[in-house]
Amino acid sequence: MSNIESPTEKPLDPLASEPSRFGDLVGTSAPMKELFAILARVAASDVGMLIEGETGTGKELVAEAIHAASARKGKPFVVCDLAGVTRSLIESELFGHVRGAFTGADRERDGAFAQAAGGTIFIDEIAELEPSAQPRLLRALERRQVKPVGGSVYRDLDVRVIAATNRDLAEEVKAGRFREDLFHRLAVMKVRLPSLRERREDIPLLVDHLLQRAGGNAKLAPEALARLVEHGWPGNVRELKNVLDRSLSLLPPEGERVITPELLGLSDAAAPPAPVDEGFRAAKERVVTAWERAWLSRLLSDARGNVTRAARVGRLDRVHLYRLLRKHNIDVRGGQ
Ligand SMILES: Nc1ncnc2c1ncn2[C@@H]1O[C@H](COP(=O)(O)OP(=O)(O)OP(=O)(O)O)[C@@H](O)[C@H]1O
Ligand SMILES: [Mg+2]
Repeated sequence: MSNIESPTEKPLDPLASEPSRFGDLVGTSAPMKELFAILARVAASDVGMLIEGETGTGKELVAEAIHAASARKGKPFVVCDLAGVTRSLIESELFGHVRGAFTGADRERDGAFAQAAGGTIFIDEIAELEPSAQPRLLRALERRQVKPVGGSVYRDLDVRVIAATNRDLAEEVKAGRFREDLFHRLAVMKVRLPSLRERREDIPLLVDHLLQRAGGNAKLAPEALARLVEHGWPGNVRELKNVLDRSLSLLPPEGERVITPELLGLSDAAAPPAPVDEGFRAAKERVVTAWERAWLSRLLSDARGNVTRAARVGRLDRVHLYRLLRKHNIDVRGGQ
């Protein structure tokens, strides 16, 4: 990915050449780059997938990106969030029902599977599926056929199924709440999205990405970035996005639009305990690395990717700047 020419050194990072984005997902940490490489391969195939990860880690975004990168793009992408559906109606939501199937079913209705015909269905919070409804889904996946609730005719199914959960589904199986055979069917391909705490080095890139998406010309003060890198992020990327959106709404519409640590409104209570177990050096290294990356990205984008100019403005030796850019895997063209 990096097009920085350097006559002297080879990249130290074995993942340096792996892309740092997949669809709308960005990330430069090792687990995310590994994930992006897997997702690219999965998208090209037509297998189903199970995505595990805490709330706000980007599970739905992964499903969307897989669909968009697959041969099914252009066909429907249907989201079915089982946490938002009354339990007794989950089966009808997924498979539809015929008229008179149950009290209140006064007309026939298509389910999510029928709506997704030819495309992809994203079943969110799959652990909410009651044991009584699980055999129907298993049959749909195994025989590739679905039948509406109350109906008698099976229809062929041409849908890719991507399921997600913020629980550990294998644990749900052990606890007897989820059928083992269905679990194995869904988890032919299983990926886990790491929490934001496990990949703090992604924060500067995510911040750039989210600020860009929000539009406007706001920038983040280095101390504010340091604060973001230190935060505990129980709500993961969604929480980061909310914090940035809120800060942006507090900025003056004109003039210098710089987000200060105070504007972030992160209370100290939400901050993680100082990672003392990590040791002073490692903790400092982490914050400094994140700060360095954000500073260099800004420098380079202000210089419109012109390294010579960036070196002059940043008062850095050009060779040294090249080395730093490569260390952070910053693409010279885009300035990231
Ligand atoms: N790697 C990423 N790069 C860019 N944006 C991301 C990334 N991960 C998550 N987001 C953004 O964070 C927000 C939350 O993502 P998403 O809705 O996919 O999470 P989720 O895992 O489905 O959460 P939940 O379990 O609460 O439903 C979205 O606005 C999404 O665009
Ligand atoms: Mg979701």
